[in-house]
Amino acid sequence: MKNNIFKKLASVATISATLFMLAGCNSSLLNEKKVEGAQRPIIIQGPMPIEAECFAGKLEKVKVEKSGKFVFYKGKLNNYPVIVTKTGKGMENAAAATALAIEKYNPIAIINQGTSGGHNPELNVFDIVLGERTTNIGSLKTTNLDEGQGTDPTTWIPMDLMASEGSGSDDSANKVRYYYGDKDLLAAANAVKDTYTKGKVVEGTIGSADFWNSEVDRIKWIHEIYGTDVEEMEGASVAQISDAYDVAFLGIRILSNNKTNGGTYDPGTAAANQAYVYEVVKEYISMMKNK
Ligand code: 5AD
Repeated sequence: MKNNIFKKLASVATISATLFMLAGCNSSLLNEKKVEGAQRPIIIQGPMPIEAECFAGKLEKVKVEKSGKFVFYKGKLNNYPVIVTKTGKGMENAAAATALAIEKYNPIAIINQGTSGGHNPELNVFDIVLGERTTNIGSLKTTNLDEGQGTDPTTWIPMDLMASEGSGSDDSANKVRYYYGDKDLLAAANAVKDTYTKGKVVEGTIGSADFWNSEVDRIKWIHEIYGTDVEEMEGASVAQISDAYDVAFLGIRILSNNKTNGGTYDPGTAAANQAYVYEVVKEYISMMKNK
């Protein structure tokens, strides 16, 4: 019991210290006042600390809530409720953090953002992809091979788990499922793309799976079969859960690496993406206010 209290105090101390360290991300002064509002909040998700905390530091009147390992920074942006979620990495974390956020906060929209790896050789590190489409690139069926016949991932077939409630042998599932980015969120993102000066901002296809691909031929195969521009590990699971609850969704991913053209990993991309997404959210809020 005592141990638990110490653990809780330690986690509160960690969160306060983290917020205090946000100075490097141009954070505004944070306070812990209770934020309540009748308006439905906008959720901004980032998987890793470097992908969520810069944005959290820009919010006003922040109150931090935790549920399991998921951290929700509830605050205001231009007097509108915005909740930044640190989801953790991967599809399961992203799905759980999304369902929780929808059940707890009834959001009007969800933006899943962060870093990604390029599948399109024309995109460079620091370019940003707006997810016109987001798809699960880890949901696959193999062909039928017997013992000793080996394995050939290039013959695998995309599997749409939402196609039917039937078994894996159901042929209607042999296709790619795309989740389309919400048109108002896309419009807001396009309206402010000139504010971003570190690279291009393009509409494209985001692929997600619990996988980090660095085999160029495999990347090319995914690029051809799914039309992906980038890969990451969360977007499609957030899109799927948002769709299940009919909540507006958009993925916004910056390239932190691109094996197809020699673009090496740059962690500075995480902060650059949050700065751009901040402009997108401001625009979306003003679009809603003018409706
Ligand atoms: N492949 C997969 N995930 C990537 N990420 C960045 N680059 C890649 C890549 N090439 C993101 C994922 C995950 C974390 C490892 O970084 O979304 O959260």
